Amino acid sequence: MTTLSPIRNIDSVAAAAGPAPTGVTPTAGVPKIPSARGPGLSAHLRQRIARDFHARWSEEWGSKFVTHGRVPGRDAIRLDGNDYLAVTGDPRIVQAQIDNLRCNHDTVTQSSVFHLAGSPTHQFEVALADWVGADSVLLCQSGYTANLGLLQVVADPQTPVYIDSLAHMSLWEGVRASGATAHAFRHNDPGHLARMIPRHGPGLVVVDSVYSTTGALCPLPEMVKIAQDHGCMILVDESHSLGTHGPQGRGLCAQWGLTDRVHFITASLAKAFAGRAGFFTMPEELRYYLMCHSFPSIFSSSLLPHEIAGLAATLQVLRGADDARGRLQQHTVRLRTRLTQLGYPIAHGSEQIIALEAGSEVDTLALRDALEARGVFGAVFVAPATARQRAMVRLTLNAALTDAELNHVEAVAAEIAPQVRPWEWAIARRQGRQTSATA
Ligand SMILES: Cc1ncc(COP(=O)(O)O)c(C=O)c1O
Repeated sequence: MTTLSPIRNIDSVAAAAGPAPTGVTPTAGVPKIPSARGPGLSAHLRQRIARDFHARWSEEWGSKFVTHGRVPGRDAIRLDGNDYLAVTGDPRIVQAQIDNLRCNHDTVTQSSVFHLAGSPTHQFEVALADWVGADSVLLCQSGYTANLGLLQVVADPQTPVYIDSLAHMSLWEGVRASGATAHAFRHNDPGHLARMIPRHGPGLVVVDSVYSTTGALCPLPEMVKIAQDHGCMILVDESHSLGTHGPQGRGLCAQWGLTDRVHFITASLAKAFAGRAGFFTMPEELRYYLMCHSFPSIFSSSLLPHEIAGLAATLQVLRGADDARGRLQQHTVRLRTRLTQLGYPIAHGSEQIIALEAGSEVDTLALRDALEARGVFGAVFVAPATARQRAMVRLTLNAALTDAELNHVEAVAAEIAPQVRPWEWAIARRQGRQTSATA
């Protein structure tokens, strides 16, 4: 079994649950948590909170929740969302939702396993499958439940799962739910994956197409080849490439002609779709088996009809969004180039997500405050969204950013560089070592 410990990423919430700070024993300084109502918490739970959280909260975060900075003003430049093609508020999408809310009077709130062939859910699944180029699609309530519900079924305790160490948390949780053993391979390292599979046998390879904290691109053609050569199935999470990459936004598997060689594509529809849903692809023969065994589909209610109407309209908008995709790509190249010139170590990524990895939580909050004081808002990511000493401010770009806004972001990055000293971050040293090793 591998000795690599996974660095677990979540995208949406950078919550607080790192290891116990050194010097804090389970019984030391148990905080009095005032409970205005109801019974008090157990001593055991209080001790855990004291051990895992208190020093972090007060000493590193200054007694304020770590992801909560300033309230953005009207002129704030928001680089903290995932609406990459800026479709929120598109009148076609809004109208589709309104029409559905006005006209649809026979909604039954129930689990999607009750939805019949030909229902709006099913029609949208067919449209998604057609777009992505897959046999069949199962719509889920979120990207998280798509990964969880799929992995829970297609892996089992006899299935070795080879998973990139930076894969999204929902993929790790899916492996856990399946009872399979996770064998973490080094991030984006096909050679390491190839060496690992013969040790444990054929199973399932799990990767993200674009990594959610760093914007690193997966070497998908190599990964797919290795999976195929070793008799493994492969799952690709396309949450950060669907809509933004590939012909008509069909994603990276489509762009690289890999769709027919990939067993499962999963995606959140809370990124370029700017909605609140997810899906996975599968061979049609698996459909009813999955519907019979995938717990989130069975035991949790489905999306509502107006949400599906909105998503179906968004799919049409995204298909025709080549201009927006082009702009997003231009913004990405432009900002990455300028930040690199200014000494920000961002070479571990290449796509529309840019990680400013200050390292410690204290330095990351100082970076966040410096950016926000000048009107630039990114998102703070700390453990468990990153490894403990690899906290970051994540900037996500979108197609609607104007030249003036990009100029401002660049000017701010230049102004604060002498203060936040990005060339001294631990990641800068690591990247320097890698460059000299490959030179
Ligand atoms: C790669 C990846 N997969 C899955 C998810 C989960 O998506 P959702 O927010 O729709 O649950 C996210 C978002 O955090 C993600 O970045």
